[in-house]
Amino acid sequence: MGLSEEQEILVKESWEVLKLDIPHHSLRFFTLILEIAPAAKNMFSFLRDSDEVPQNNPKLKAHAVKVFKMTCESAIQLREKGEVVIPDSSLKHLGSVHLMNGVIPPHFEVVKEALLRTIKEAIGDKWNDEIGSAWGEAYDQLAAAIKNEMKQ
Ligand code: HEM
Repeated sequence: MGLSEEQEILVKESWEVLKLDIPHHSLRFFTLILEIAPAAKNMFSFLRDSDEVPQNNPKLKAHAVKVFKMTCESAIQLREKGEVVIPDSSLKHLGSVHLMNGVIPPHFEVVKEALLRTIKEAIGDKWNDEIGSAWGEAYDQLAAAIKNEMKQ
């Protein structure tokens, strides 16, 4: 499924809101991931050794920003081309990093839920079903590409 121009704009606008406070939204994103799936803690090097989600941790922020930004880029591609296209070399790298860290397909649903809830909280009253389905569709197609690579 492609995205409408309207949906692409909604995704870009919400990414602009997330960008205004990356430390806060990254922390919230990981707090939600651990709330939904406490066992995910052991997969992330920066969570393994501490009792709480660390504030201002560069690796935590990097993963959160990658997920936010790559999903946003996927939404743009879905509008422009009707599909998500990731260069082969990046996809191979993403597939192997996730495999090596013990990530399995159901974890992608946990991250999806945390992502949507983070955006919903960030944009408050501006949230609507259309924004949710645009981010959700872009995330699903990106996750499908990574999961497919993990199978290879
Ligand atoms: C690392 C992206 C979903 C767990 C990474 C990296 C990227 C990335 C770019 C860094 C790769 C490198 O080291 O060069 C994404 C995207 C996702 C996604 C775009 C969804 C569309 C997930 C999920 C999990 C996960 C569902 C598990 C809950 C990890 C872990 C690492 C990692 C454990 C290593 C981080 C560390 O300990 O430093 N991911 N990821 N990721 N990802 Fe993801």
